[in-house]
Amino acid sequence: MEIREKIEALRKEIEYHEYLYYVKDAPEISDVEFDHMMKELEELEQAHPEYASENSPTKRVGGSVATEFAPVEHAVPLLSLGNTYNIEEIEAFFVRTQKQIDNVEVIVEPKIDGLSVALTYEKGVFVQGATRGDGFVGEDVTENLRTVRSIPLRLLKPVSLTVRGEVYMDKASFQELNAQRERDELPLFANPRNAAAGSLRQQDSKVTAQRKLSIFIFNVETSPDITPKTHLEGLKMLAELGFKTIQPIATVKGADEINSICRLWNEKRYEQTYDIDGLVLKVNDLAQREILGYTAKTPRWAVAYKFPAEQKETLLRDITFQVGRTGVITPAAELESVFLAGTKVSRATLHNEDFIREKDIRIGDHVLIQKAGEIIPEVVSVVKEKRDGTQKPFEMITSCPACGTALIREEGQAATYCPNAECPAQTVRLLIHFVSRDAMDINGLGEQVIARLHQLGLVHDVADLYSLTVEQLASMERMGEKSGQNIVNAIANSRNAGLARLLYALGIRHVGKGTASAIAAQYGSMDAVIKAEFEELCNVEDVGEIIARSIVSYFLEPRNLEVIEKLRIAGVSMLHQQAEKSERQSLSGKTFVLTGTLPSYTREEATKIIEREGGKVTSSVTKKTDYVLVGEQPGSKAEKAQKLGIPMLTEAEWKTLIGENT
Ligand code: IVH
Repeated sequence: MEIREKIEALRKEIEYHEYLYYVKDAPEISDVEFDHMMKELEELEQAHPEYASENSPTKRVGGSVATEFAPVEHAVPLLSLGNTYNIEEIEAFFVRTQKQIDNVEVIVEPKIDGLSVALTYEKGVFVQGATRGDGFVGEDVTENLRTVRSIPLRLLKPVSLTVRGEVYMDKASFQELNAQRERDELPLFANPRNAAAGSLRQQDSKVTAQRKLSIFIFNVETSPDITPKTHLEGLKMLAELGFKTIQPIATVKGADEINSICRLWNEKRYEQTYDIDGLVLKVNDLAQREILGYTAKTPRWAVAYKFPAEQKETLLRDITFQVGRTGVITPAAELESVFLAGTKVSRATLHNEDFIREKDIRIGDHVLIQKAGEIIPEVVSVVKEKRDGTQKPFEMITSCPACGTALIREEGQAATYCPNAECPAQTVRLLIHFVSRDAMDINGLGEQVIARLHQLGLVHDVADLYSLTVEQLASMERMGEKSGQNIVNAIANSRNAGLARLLYALGIRHVGKGTASAIAAQYGSMDAVIKAEFEELCNVEDVGEIIARSIVSYFLEPRNLEVIEKLRIAGVSMLHQQAEKSERQSLSGKTFVLTGTLPSYTREEATKIIEREGGKVTSSVTKKTDYVLVGEQPGSKAEKAQKLGIPMLTEAEWKTLIGENT
C-alpha cells in the first residue's frame, strides 16, 4: 500500500473508533490498541509532512495559540429561548401554539447546561466553529473545538451544513479539574458550565485539549444538502453523519402530559453524568415552526423550562466567623455534609448578623440550603418544625476571633468589623487579595503559601513581598528552586502594574476595581491621591460619600502611609499608566456603562478599548451616560438606561461605532 493510502486508512480507522468511544459510548477496542494506532499515525505523519492534514485525528491535541478570537457572523442567528419556571407558563405556551396549529407535536429534550456553538462543515469537513456570542456575531474558536473528541472533524458523508449544539463538561471531569486546581492553588470554577466556557475560550488550544469537553448537537441551522421535514428527522440525519445528538425525552401533544415529565426530570437530572438545568420544548414539524415564527430574540415554536435551584435540608452544627481582608466578619454555617447540585457541601455563608436574626437561625437547627450560582451555598430558611428546644439562639461575637480586638458595627451598616489593622487574619486575607489577578496579578502565591510566609514572619505587610528571596521561597514545603524563582520574577514584574491596580490591591474598604481606575485616571499619581480631600473625591465619577470617607481615613492612618512608602522604596510604580491612545479617538468624550457578559470581550478588554478610543467607563447609569453596552444577562443597568432613554448598544453595534466591524 502506498504511504498516502496507509495514512488515510489509519485516519479512517481512528475516526471510527473515536466515534464509537466518544459519540456512541460503546468502544470496541482497548485504550492501548487505540493509542497504538494513534502513535503509528503520528509517526507516519511526521515522516511524511507532505500528507499533513488539519483534520487528522492527531490534531486533536491542540497547539495553536490565539491572541484573540476573530468575530464570526452567524449565517443564521443563534437565537435564545424564552424561559418558563412553572407549569402555568408552559401551559400558556401550549395554548398559544395550539391557537395557531391543530394537533401540534412537541418534542421534549433535556436542556444541557453548557454553551451554545455553531459548527460549519464544507463537503463533510469541519471548517469553522463559533460561540453564540450575542446571537448574531460570535467568536471563532475553531482550533479549540477541534480538540473536542465528540466533534467529528470529518462527517460520514460529504455534506455541507451548519449545526448548533451545546458544549459541556461532564460532572466527573469538572470535579477532577477542580481537584487539580485546588492542588495547584488556582481559583476553582463555580460550576461545570463556567469550566466549559473558560476552557473553550482558552487562548492556548493545548489547554482546551486537556479539559475533556463534550458536545450534544441539537439542530441543523442551515444546509444546502440535507432538508429534514421534522426535528426528529433532522436529529436522525445528524446522527447518521456521525454527530453526537441530543436524546429527546418524550413527544407530547398537550400540556397535561408535561407536569409529570417536569417533576420526574427535576429528580432524574441528578442521575445524569452532566448538568441539565431544565427541559426544552420544541415543535417537531419544521413547516409549523415557520407559521409560528419568531419574536425579536426567541422563536415562538420553542420554550425552555428551568428547574428550580436544588435545595437540601441539613443540620447546622455551629456558626463560625471568618475575618475578611478589610476586617469584615462573615458568619458561616458549619453543616453536616450533604451532596448539593453535584458537590459535597459542609459550609454555607450567613452573610451578616442581620441575615441570621431575620431568619432566626440557631445552632442545632435543620436548615434548607441552596447554591446561588456561586461555589459557596447559602442558607435559605430554617425548618422550624424540627426544633426540639435544644437549639441555641445566635449570639454575635464582640471580639475578633483572630486577634481579640473589640469589634465595631457602625450605625446603618450591616457589616461588623475588626478595626485592628495588624490583625493577622486580615493581613493574610489582604496579602491574598494583593496578589490576586485583578490586583497585582502575582502568579504562584496561593493561600497556603501566603499563610505560611506570614506565620514564619517573612511577610508582615504587602510591601514585604518585594524583599522575598528565591532561597526563602524554595525552602518552603512543596516548593522548589524553580517555582521560587518564578514567584520572585512575578513579584518583580508586578512593580509596573500601575496606580489603578495598586489602589485596588491595597484593599481600601469600598474601593473596587472600577473605583480604583476612576481615581487613578483622575489623580494620576499616588501622591495626589494621598493629598486628595473629601469634597474633591466625592466629585470623581463613581465615588460617593462612603467611598470618599473610606479613602480619606485610609490615608490618614500612619501605618498605611508607611506601607506605601515601603512599596515606593521597593520600586513599585505609583503612577497611572495612560492607556495607549488610538489615532481615531472615535469615542472621544463619551461615557459608557457596561452591563452583562459581552460575547467576545472581558470587561477589562472592553474598558481598555473604550479608553483607548478616548471614552470612559463608569459603573452607574446616570443622565450623563452616553451609551450602555449590553451583554448577555444584563442587570438592572439596562432597565435604568431604558427608563432614562439612554441608547443601548450590542457588542456588534459598539464595534461598528469604533469602526472595528468594517
Ligand atoms: S434549542 C432557537 N435545545 O439553551 C432555539 N437549546 O436558553 C435553539 N440549550 O442558547 C436552542 N440544551 O445553548 C436547545 N436541547 C436543547 C438545549 C438548548 C441546551 C441551550 C442553548 C440555548 C439555550 C437557550
